[in-house]
Amino acid sequence: MRIIVGVSGGVAAYKAAALVSTLVQRGHQVQVLLTPGATQFIAPLTFEALTQRTVGIETSDQPMGPISHVQLAKWADAMAVVPATLGVLSRLAGGQASDLLCLTYLSFTGPVVVAPAMEPRMWAHPRTQAHCDVLKQDGVRVCGPVAGHLASGSEGVGRLIDLEILVGEIEHVHSRDFVGRRILITGGSTWEHFDPVRALTNPSTGRMGFLLAQEAAYRGASVTYVHGPRADQFGPLPDAVKRIAVVSADDMRQAVWDHIDDAEIYVSSAAVSDFKPGGTATHKLHKETLGRSWSMELNPDILQEIGDRYQGQKILVGFAAETDEVVESASRKLTKKHLDLVVANPVGRSEGFGDRSYAAELVSRVGGSQTLSVRTKEEAVPLIWDHIGTIYRERNG
Ligand code: C5P
Repeated sequence: MRIIVGVSGGVAAYKAAALVSTLVQRGHQVQVLLTPGATQFIAPLTFEALTQRTVGIETSDQPMGPISHVQLAKWADAMAVVPATLGVLSRLAGGQASDLLCLTYLSFTGPVVVAPAMEPRMWAHPRTQAHCDVLKQDGVRVCGPVAGHLASGSEGVGRLIDLEILVGEIEHVHSRDFVGRRILITGGSTWEHFDPVRALTNPSTGRMGFLLAQEAAYRGASVTYVHGPRADQFGPLPDAVKRIAVVSADDMRQAVWDHIDDAEIYVSSAAVSDFKPGGTATHKLHKETLGRSWSMELNPDILQEIGDRYQGQKILVGFAAETDEVVESASRKLTKKHLDLVVANPVGRSEGFGDRSYAAELVSRVGGSQTLSVRTKEEAVPLIWDHIGTIYRERNG
């Protein structure tokens, strides 16, 4: 992508250098524009070294050359303003043609991401919020700020959004096909405790659920992500994701039933334990006692319950990790659980779990099965959402 990154004069301007470096490493062409104020915080040379391009600052820099606002607006696919100070927010919202960054914004017709960063009190001020509302009405994506520590020593909402998330938001700014969709996702494994220190579980890490929630949010959906223990290890998720941490299959079932009514799409990627111990001791069991308390009970099949209740009313997606007859058993699950789609994965010692190599077959109610030509979960997840998006549009017109 060809991306204009506008940097305004706040302390977080130093983070813009890391953002630009990441975007360049990911194969994007980046043109940096600094407000005159930004040059007080970070030198243009930093960005010139990172992008191999002259940085634009003043409108008089090269009025008819490659850094003219008119040329730039035609060249770029997307624009991001990082960080956006209150000054630049108000100038953008007010349509002031005051510097090269603002002029370029006013000339650009493509998608724009703005990442504010400022003192919490300034961020909370009604004027600041009014500027953001104007920008949002104009179709700008306002990302963050988030709560945390600020350079001034204060704590609160005002910190620049995590760069990792910002990169995702910028890269997805053209593919916001899930705006307005409400999605419930489960991920990770469940833990069925024998006692406070021992549990029955499986090797699922929750990486698939994390990637599914992240991508859906980048594409505009509101996501509720219910996940098992340890599935919160993959880093921050966009604000549009509400996380609910659970432990056992019973907890997960409760969370799913609490949130399913509001969802249009339910994606069950969790590796729910099929069994649980006959009872859970409140104190640590001795080895000898544990050996005798080995009785097992079947867990509820959450997806089956949801399929029985909501078939045809919501889009229902299951996952099936299989060692043999991958497509056949996925098709059986599709029918039995009344699903619209099953993502079937061959699993073995070297594939399937965590971030090891990944293969998947999409088995849908209408349309049969299709092999995804992917090697990683990162490659598979956008294709899975493309497929779910198609099913949604066919259902809802
Ligand atoms: O039948 P199987 O367990 O292989 O089906 C896998 C699918 O069913 C997955 O989507 C999984 O999240 C869901 N499932 C469930 N509750 C269970 C077991 C599986 O929701 N107890």
